[in-house]
Amino acid sequence: MGWNSWNRFGTDISEKLVREIADAMVESGMKDAGYAYIVIDDGWQMSRDADGNIVMNHERFPNGIKPVADYVHSKGLKFGIYSDAGRKTCQGLPGSRGYEYQDARAYASWGVDYLKYDWCYHGTQNSEASYTLMRDALYAAGRPMVFSICEWGTTRPWLWAGDVGHLWRTTEDIQDCWDCVNEWGGLGWVKILDKQAGLEQYAGPGHWNDPDMLEVGNGGMTATEYKCHFSMWCMLAAPLMAGNDIRSMSHETREILTNKEAISVNQDKLGKQARRIVQSDGYQMWVKELSGNEIAVAFFNGGDSSITTNVSWPYILRKFGLKKKSYTLRDLWKHENIGTTDTPLQVRIKPHDILMVRLVNN
Ligand code: GLA
Repeated sequence: MGWNSWNRFGTDISEKLVREIADAMVESGMKDAGYAYIVIDDGWQMSRDADGNIVMNHERFPNGIKPVADYVHSKGLKFGIYSDAGRKTCQGLPGSRGYEYQDARAYASWGVDYLKYDWCYHGTQNSEASYTLMRDALYAAGRPMVFSICEWGTTRPWLWAGDVGHLWRTTEDIQDCWDCVNEWGGLGWVKILDKQAGLEQYAGPGHWNDPDMLEVGNGGMTATEYKCHFSMWCMLAAPLMAGNDIRSMSHETREILTNKEAISVNQDKLGKQARRIVQSDGYQMWVKELSGNEIAVAFFNGGDSSITTNVSWPYILRKFGLKKKSYTLRDLWKHENIGTTDTPLQVRIKPHDILMVRLVNN
């Protein structure tokens, strides 16, 4: 869990922004809710010096990266950075190809805790070899870092990256919209959600599918639509990287991002990704197995008309091996108990809305 600069700020990043975001992480309650990493994405680099050392953009980071990382650490948070396995980053700045060990040593010396490693300008490079090379360079640098693979799912990293990185992007870039498709490949979150079904077998502690960073609070959708997006990222056991301006978020945005009951589903120690068990027109039902013999169930209406359905629990209890006869149903957005599994649940969901419940074993 953390925050990344890209979705809201693009390359408009600076030491000042990172310091203010670190302050806001603490003051807004994000840190208390579990958000730990502050990651600067593309745009901090500028060139290489005569010895090949990466040089940062001095206008944006006049004191270098280390004091920025130190400040983030002083708040009890962790600091992350971005580079690219190819010659250049996606913004055309210097990538790490040919400088992997040198860059990894620099990051370690600055106190970096997380590296997002992109895939632009990779030419004919092999993805597994390129990411393994940087993994080994990070090991050699000697500082523990989360290694985030960002090759957009193009070479199916879930098949090879379990021992290479801690998380891997599964798709092209998320956009701040419901189900749009951009010409260059950006996707609305509902389109991304579709591509996660079937990948659940590859996710688990220390090796996660990454459906990309959150767009919650960036302005392109309604609060209810953002609630759907956030709920489903929790169900998917996805990395929760906020991508909005947390210095000035609305009450509604904060309530979504810091919903501890939804977050506890995301962070459940079994580390299981939800499975889609029903899909019919826009209606989808997803189930996530949780520790303690519990499950979370999301009833998501992605369609344009309301849906009404009756959920009979015995079938679901059997399917997911839940042994008790009766569970309490907890609505994770209303924060109240709404019944038990003894009687069928009548579910009514408006278009672009969601019901997320936890079957509590008590
Ligand atoms: C790619 C990545 C994005 C972001 C940009 C930065 O598109 O997928 O997440 O890092 O590059 O240029």
